[in-house]
Amino acid sequence: MTSRLDFTGKVALVVGGSSGIGNGIAQAFRAQGAEVHVWGTRGTAADYSPVEGSDMEGLHYARMDVSDFEAVEASSVPFDRLDILVLSQGMVVYKRGEFQTASFRKVVDVNLNSLMACAERFQPMLAKAKGSLIIVSSTAAFHATVGNPAYNASKTGAFGLTRTLGQAWAPLGIRVNGIAPGMVATKMTAATFDNPDRTEGVRQRIPLGRFGTPEDMGEVALFLASPMAGYIVGQTLVVDGGLIL
Ligand SMILES: NC(=O)c1ccc[n+]([C@@H]2O[C@H](COP(=O)([O-])OP(=O)(O)OC[C@H]3O[C@@H](n4cnc5c(N)ncnc54)[C@H](OP(=O)(O)O)[C@@H]3O)[C@@H](O)[C@H]2O)c1
Repeated sequence: MTSRLDFTGKVALVVGGSSGIGNGIAQAFRAQGAEVHVWGTRGTAADYSPVEGSDMEGLHYARMDVSDFEAVEASSVPFDRLDILVLSQGMVVYKRGEFQTASFRKVVDVNLNSLMACAERFQPMLAKAKGSLIIVSSTAAFHATVGNPAYNASKTGAFGLTRTLGQAWAPLGIRVNGIAPGMVATKMTAATFDNPDRTEGVRQRIPLGRFGTPEDMGEVALFLASPMAGYIVGQTLVVDGGLIL
């Protein structure tokens, strides 16, 4: 029997696939046979290293600043069909920087407004392929986050956008769903993970007793894009080891 998680012949684009959670998702689709393209901010794939947790093996890389919405709209891509679009781009500004208007806007542009720019750019290809769009938000969509108003607002917005695009695009044959990760060690969360006391305090609050991994998120993305999730639309799965229960 052919595996329902076999993506051979399918094409995926993972925005933010150069690092962390997006990279784990990209490699999960590659391992299941998909041709996987990733977007990130650096010049070439060689600018990313395994030391930072990036595994670019077998991925097709292109640079794109997704907060440049015109560039996203005008982007030309080296594939002519798209079955899976994963939007995993994200940033955060620490030390209360998000209380400044310029930083607030930048974070919302990268974490929320770019989701719509990317989704719109690829909507015709996804509709043609009867494909799947997966938006990575955060458990921050469900509670306040001390010191990060823009991150919180953007992730709450991403949660709502997933629901609304799910409803709007299901008639086109596109299933839109989301993943809300809990705590995962990545470039973005290095400030937390570099502090052992803080890390241990968070870990103790996770019912499963461990942090999430990019691989955990990859497995869920495979499920959401597969026929096994063929009747799920507009939902965001919380993948946090029970952290926010
Ligand atoms: N880690 C966690 O605990 C956690 C928890 C909940 C939700 N999330 C969400 O998961 C997603 C991935 O984050 P991560 O933790 O994996 O962090 P990460 O390793 O820093 O990955 C962020 C990704 O977004 C890309 N990116 C950032 N700004 C961009 C821009 N202007 N244009 C294009 N790409 C841009 C980065 O590109 P470069 O590699 O070139 O920098 C990178 O690929 C984010 O949406 C984040 O909010 C993370």
